[in-house]
Amino acid sequence: MTIASTGYQSGFGNEFATEAFAGTLPVGQNSPQKVAHGLYAEQLSGTAFTAPRRENRRSWLYRIRPAAIHGAFQAYAQPRFHNVFEDVVAPDQMRWSPLPLPEAPADFVDGLFTMAGNGGPAAQGGVGIHLYAANRDMQGRFFYDADGELLLVPQQGRLHIETELGVLDVEPQEIAVIPRGVRFRVALPDGAARGYVCENFGALMRLPDLGPIGSNGLANPRDFLTPNAAFEDVEGEFELIAKFQGRLWRAPIGHSPLDVVGWHGNYAPYKYDLRRFNTIGSISFDHPDPSIFTVLTSPSDTPGTANMDFVIFGPRILAMQHTFRPPWFHRNVASEFMGLVHGAYDAKAEGFVPGGCSLHNCMSGHGPDAATFEKASNADLSKPDVIADTMAFMFETRAVIRPTRQALEAPHRQRDYQACWAGLQKHFQPPR
Ligand SMILES: [Fe+2]
Repeated sequence: MTIASTGYQSGFGNEFATEAFAGTLPVGQNSPQKVAHGLYAEQLSGTAFTAPRRENRRSWLYRIRPAAIHGAFQAYAQPRFHNVFEDVVAPDQMRWSPLPLPEAPADFVDGLFTMAGNGGPAAQGGVGIHLYAANRDMQGRFFYDADGELLLVPQQGRLHIETELGVLDVEPQEIAVIPRGVRFRVALPDGAARGYVCENFGALMRLPDLGPIGSNGLANPRDFLTPNAAFEDVEGEFELIAKFQGRLWRAPIGHSPLDVVGWHGNYAPYKYDLRRFNTIGSISFDHPDPSIFTVLTSPSDTPGTANMDFVIFGPRILAMQHTFRPPWFHRNVASEFMGLVHGAYDAKAEGFVPGGCSLHNCMSGHGPDAATFEKASNADLSKPDVIADTMAFMFETRAVIRPTRQALEAPHRQRDYQACWAGLQKHFQPPR
């Protein structure tokens, strides 16, 4: 039982309009006395009703049954997926090997594993950072997250994501964003799947301003794809799983909630191919700050200081002269959770592999490992370095990223990570 993709509409945050049957969407109004084809009208808001127009997001759904129809919720036990972050956090640099794929059957919801986060749904700020490792389709159940929008970053295996508003097919090096509250079901066309999830409790992600870059560049709006309407009309004994205030709940539901025949509005799921990112960098000397690699940003109440930035380190050419070309050593006020989707990352010779992750918190020093430093310090700069076949990313937050207990104690944590800098030699030669 799957719903096939019906294609996409292009653009970021547009006023989209799509219908599976012609004449589904009302003309000139949102809530007619009788909706065409015997459907119900339902508004889904993603911002406060009175949010400024440029930030206001909502959609109108025309569906077979309203979302109100389901049984009572009871607690659902999935103890690895939550928002309980450690109060006491050591400032150590940390790194993990990939989360192993499950041995027992696990779908997307049961395969989620919370690594870290800050803030929470009650505070309406911060993020939850999760991994998923799954090996079966969601069968007879549907999920929504009332706590935040979900940014999915697949690393292994495609995801076929059937949402109320249509179908997203994504593969590694693409991302998908499921808005807060939108119900969906995930199938795994390749059998096994693994990746990263950023659960954004703060303001909805948007494209960053471009300033002097101008009117094009970085992630271009037309490369974001939002699904056309697609639905199923199915009855049965199903389950609706909700994440609400940091906990999971389950309710019986007698029909598929993926029953939206048409919708219009600007609050909808979308996907983006990270390989379409127009990477911009220095053509003279030194590096710009990595904010130049921002794909999406969730602003905070402080201008210029993001709740969360999603930043990628993709293929690029390094041609800067008299410059140390890999990322420099640094300590930042922001906190950085990194992952690797594909290939190798140019600041680490080994240990950071696809599916792995690292955490460098506020003011914790980090940078290239000893092998990378020695190589880059003596490289021939007359030729450019063409960095191909790579896709690393970062969830960067203004608040400290607090690991979960299960992340700190995980067998796949690399407890010797700090040793990667131990080989950095003293080169100091005082003048005589
Ligand atoms: Fe960093």
